[in-house]
Amino acid sequence: MKISVIGAGYVGLITALVLADMDHTVVCVDKDELKINKLNHRIPPIYEEGLEELLDKCLNSKTITFSTDIATAIKTCDVLYIAVGTPALEDGHVDMSQSNVIVDSLAKHLDHYAVIINKSTVPIGTQKHITQTLLEKGVSKELFDVVSNPEFLREGKAIHDFKYADRIVLGCESDKAKAILKQIYDPFVSPKIYTTPETSELIKYAANAFLATKISFINDIANLCSKTHADIAVIAYALGLDHRISPEFFKAGIGYGGSCFPKDTRALVKIAEHYEIQLKIVQSAIEINESQKLKPVKLLLNHWEEMEGKIVTILGVTFKPETDDVRDAPSIAIINKLIELGAQVRVYDPIGNKNAQKICPKAQYFEELYHSIDGAHCLILCTEWEEFHDLDFRFILKHMRIPMIIDGRNFLTDRDPEDDGILYFTVGGSI
Ligand code: UGA
Repeated sequence: MKISVIGAGYVGLITALVLADMDHTVVCVDKDELKINKLNHRIPPIYEEGLEELLDKCLNSKTITFSTDIATAIKTCDVLYIAVGTPALEDGHVDMSQSNVIVDSLAKHLDHYAVIINKSTVPIGTQKHITQTLLEKGVSKELFDVVSNPEFLREGKAIHDFKYADRIVLGCESDKAKAILKQIYDPFVSPKIYTTPETSELIKYAANAFLATKISFINDIANLCSKTHADIAVIAYALGLDHRISPEFFKAGIGYGGSCFPKDTRALVKIAEHYEIQLKIVQSAIEINESQKLKPVKLLLNHWEEMEGKIVTILGVTFKPETDDVRDAPSIAIINKLIELGAQVRVYDPIGNKNAQKICPKAQYFEELYHSIDGAHCLILCTEWEEFHDLDFRFILKHMRIPMIIDGRNFLTDRDPEDDGILYFTVGGSI
């Protein structure tokens, strides 16, 4: 099939490459010339496992091209994916401006039948709204169908998640479009759920809100553990053995971050407000997460009378390991708060420094882990990068001003740092 994917972000780029790898002819379009240039020169604009190899493979087989020419893409393809960003507005509502621009282009250039597949996370009713807008702009109803097909991929595992999704959700009301969707998706082993566009759009938000709530739930229980000496790791394990709960995605810590959970939970609350529904559980999950992020700072304020002059090293700045993404990462909230309180903040991350520097320019960034630790008063482990598991405790004891680790991911618990004389704090333990 001739497929165009509009938007070369995480979702768009992975969608385009996996479909190209399945021998469809794909053009991936983005307005960002720099990004398109990089991609044409085989340089991935983001860090993602397996991306470089897949990009190479698809460029070699000529199944993919990258372009800024949206008009030609629309005019020459049977399937048009919309995968542009839908970031949050200041008030938490969804910013649909990028999607609206694409719909304008579709209205202008669509001259043959195409299935328009929306992959972006969008408010419920968007499929209907796009359909209506195209009709109002004079596009004949014979020329298109709009389908909702949300993405459930995780950053860092995006290619795997696209190929082996837990489920493929398709909100589609037209038999003609459904026949085309079947051609694309039948080769995937994942269960397919054909449903209405509204249901499909809400499944995406509900899935992210549920997972975010699961994390906030275990963090809430962790807060009780820290007062009662109960062990949060054993509790999560025991609860997880109940197959209705599952042990996955159930680790206490300094909260969730990233470009999805924080944004999508807030958006869902706003969407519900529009219908005069209060999503109290999701709202609580958001509030727990906000306070969870700053737990390490609260602990330091309890320990130190003065933050001024203290050197705090942040270990890991990305919102999770195996990504260079720092959007809404708990580390960012911690860094900003510490700087506001007068501390000197150092940051070490294997690949996230560059992105963090853009949003937190006042911190000091280190290329070498032990340089960042030398002379510090405290370490806060914010991301469970594998290399942190091997931290050299002797170096810490010898070279830190205070040998103190706040473990925001309970990542070092199996090494018992206290036994080596380190002041060690965990979520649900002493935090
Ligand atoms: C999330 C969802 O997992 C994907 O299914 C979804 O497609 C994606 O959002 C999206 O909407 O595009 P992602 O943002 O890549 O994927 O990140 P996750 O792997 O889900 O992690 C989110 C955050 O939760 C991280 O900050 C992580 O540290 C935190 N987390 C995760 C915990 O605090 N505890 C856990 O047990 C698991």
